[in-house]
Amino acid sequence: MKHHTLSCILGLACSSMALGQVDPPLIPQPERLEWTQGRFDLTGTTIAIYKLELRDEAEFLQAGLRSVGIDADIEQVHRGMGKVVALGLAPNKGLKPEGYELTIVPEGAGLYGTDEAGVFRGIQTFLQLLPPPGTASPAVPCAMISDQPRFGWRGMHLDVCRHFMPADFIKKYIDLLARYKMNTFHWHLTDDQGWRIEIKRYPRLTEVGAWRNGSMVGHYRDRQYDTLHYGGFYTQEEVKDIVAYAAKRHITVVPEIEMPGHAMAALAAYPELSCTGGPFDVERGWGVFDDVFCAGNDSVFAMLENVLTEVMTLFPGQYIHIGGDECPKERWKTCTKCQERMKANGLKDEHELQSHFIQRMEKFVNASGRKIIGWDEILEGGLAPNAAVMSWRGTEGGIAAAKQKHNVVMTPGSHCYFDHYQGDPAQEPLAIGGHTTVQKVYSFEPIPSELTAEEGQYILGAQGNVWTEYINTPEHVEYMAVPRMLALAEVLWSPKEKRNEKDFIARLLQEFPRLEAMGVNASKSIYQVETTIVRGNEPGRLTVGLSSPLGLDLMYTITRPPYSEQGRLGRYSQPLTIDADCEVQGFTMNNGSTGPIARKRFDFNWATAQAITCNPLPNERYDDGGPLTLVDGIHAGERRVNYEWLGWRSDVTITVHLSLGKMLTHVGIGALEEHSSWIHLPEQVVISTSLDGKTFAVQGTVKPEKDAQGNVHLGIDLKEVGAAAVRFEVKNTVRIPAGMAGAGNPAWLFLDEIEVR
Ligand code: ACM
Ligand code: ZN
Repeated sequence: MKHHTLSCILGLACSSMALGQVDPPLIPQPERLEWTQGRFDLTGTTIAIYKLELRDEAEFLQAGLRSVGIDADIEQVHRGMGKVVALGLAPNKGLKPEGYELTIVPEGAGLYGTDEAGVFRGIQTFLQLLPPPGTASPAVPCAMISDQPRFGWRGMHLDVCRHFMPADFIKKYIDLLARYKMNTFHWHLTDDQGWRIEIKRYPRLTEVGAWRNGSMVGHYRDRQYDTLHYGGFYTQEEVKDIVAYAAKRHITVVPEIEMPGHAMAALAAYPELSCTGGPFDVERGWGVFDDVFCAGNDSVFAMLENVLTEVMTLFPGQYIHIGGDECPKERWKTCTKCQERMKANGLKDEHELQSHFIQRMEKFVNASGRKIIGWDEILEGGLAPNAAVMSWRGTEGGIAAAKQKHNVVMTPGSHCYFDHYQGDPAQEPLAIGGHTTVQKVYSFEPIPSELTAEEGQYILGAQGNVWTEYINTPEHVEYMAVPRMLALAEVLWSPKEKRNEKDFIARLLQEFPRLEAMGVNASKSIYQVETTIVRGNEPGRLTVGLSSPLGLDLMYTITRPPYSEQGRLGRYSQPLTIDADCEVQGFTMNNGSTGPIARKRFDFNWATAQAITCNPLPNERYDDGGPLTLVDGIHAGERRVNYEWLGWRSDVTITVHLSLGKMLTHVGIGALEEHSSWIHLPEQVVISTSLDGKTFAVQGTVKPEKDAQGNVHLGIDLKEVGAAAVRFEVKNTVRIPAGMAGAGNPAWLFLDEIEVR
């Protein structure tokens, strides 16, 4: 039976809701802000510029004012007092680049930037002060603002290779960055699944490399493909247009040309640049592929240098991103050219060969007056002398690079990967995994505590990454990027001492209707209800707590099997105690509107809510809910990586004590296999039982087997064995085998619900 949603049952519409109004919702929060008396009515105002160079900035202000019905002329000279917004430069006020001072009084406003970028950032502040479109009298509140960025690299990334995004959308994305004072757009232009930038000297890169014959559909683990011819690329004219569009908004575009790995699209076009000679297809699926640019072939370097020459002509910024991540070394190990190069240069392993590759490219880029930046794998085998590091596999790479006095951009998967789930996976569109809420992004601190103040100076800033394996449309990009980008924008711009989650959320809720008016498909996952499950005061009972991160009133239902009739609706006031199969639903109520519904289905067995120990405890990256997660009655769905699964990088022994002795017919535990995420099935599980909870007798050893749905349950049937405790000794795979993602690293072991019957 399908559930009717409660909103239907209640006849209520799902809508955003207004919490208490705060002062105009500035995001990011300025460094210094004082609201002063009165309002400046914009009717009949003029924009005055003191410098011709500020004409572009003035036009942005003019366009913004037009959106609230104000037609303001731009005049180059200040007419004196009167209704005017004056724009000027004031480089000597002690503010950093991009800083500005904005003073608004009832008669007018003055905006002075350290530089033109500062004036532009200040205009964004001014525009955020405007009332929502359609307000009767357009006025802004009076204020004195002095503002400057905390970090110089405030970035957003976009992968246009896994799914292509049209040029018009790239502009809309840049507009979004601009509104929140971000200043760097990292454009991921080449990868295994598509080469997306026209290179005149190598036309096959886009003739062949920009197109693939099918794409993965559903999650990676299902290995399903469609057969559609898919692709697209940007002409150099389009690239120039976008770079100029960004420059007007004082946003630098950093192009990424991936090497030596993630190169299948290029190799499909020019297979002679590989170690084996191919042939290759542009990849249809996601992942990491063994064929990469040959590191022993001089024509590879010549080609990449020629490509970068065209790229540097198109992108005037200081940094060129050369990728460098996830490059398998399999082909290099057996390629005579690669091995000869290692010998000739005294390189002791393939990591040093990769380092040699990157250093050679760096020399070329440096000779052209630019710098390289690469993913943190470029640390392996030795960092190129002037390279900046983009730290994505945690912050460790960034810490190591900063200690070596190299510039760093932080983008750890834990806080900055906006392709991760941002709410309950059961309520979200399919994503790669993870769980990164807007609040979690807001809690991110780009400068790790491991660094001294001096080393911390090498942290240029941070950026949010939007990889598009599971994101097919511009609307979905917006959904994943917004509002998490707003949280990151404040982390990167505003002073650390001013960070205040509650205050940020209040401003964010007021920003939602403005985003809607701008046609931005922002995620409202923040309205989701959070569920916490703890053991009840007696074994076999669970206590289910519901909470609204926004502090809204909550309603709930508890529905019992066979789930044909919805349980009675109640107002939530205290945690719910449950001791048998049921589904709990919770949702927010605000001004008569319901928010998204959180659903939890509990299936009880004899292990549910019993005492449990894990030795060792799960890894802190995947320990949500602690050991109870294994006996909380909730079977981890496949989409719930990092949510209902517990993770280890070692063997683990798990013991469940049953409060009442039972005659057992089945004992088992669930495990997950997801090789792309380095998650492997255990080698085996030894299952034991005990009558006294102290001495255990082995009942059997199980090796993993998948059922028809691909789920893995490691269990054994028993013939009525009396027991007061059961034990699982789970043996991890330990090292990821060669040829798989993360080869050579310790595998992750992911376990979930224990069943005892
Ligand atoms: C990355 O996510 N492979 C940089
Ligand atoms: Zn080779």
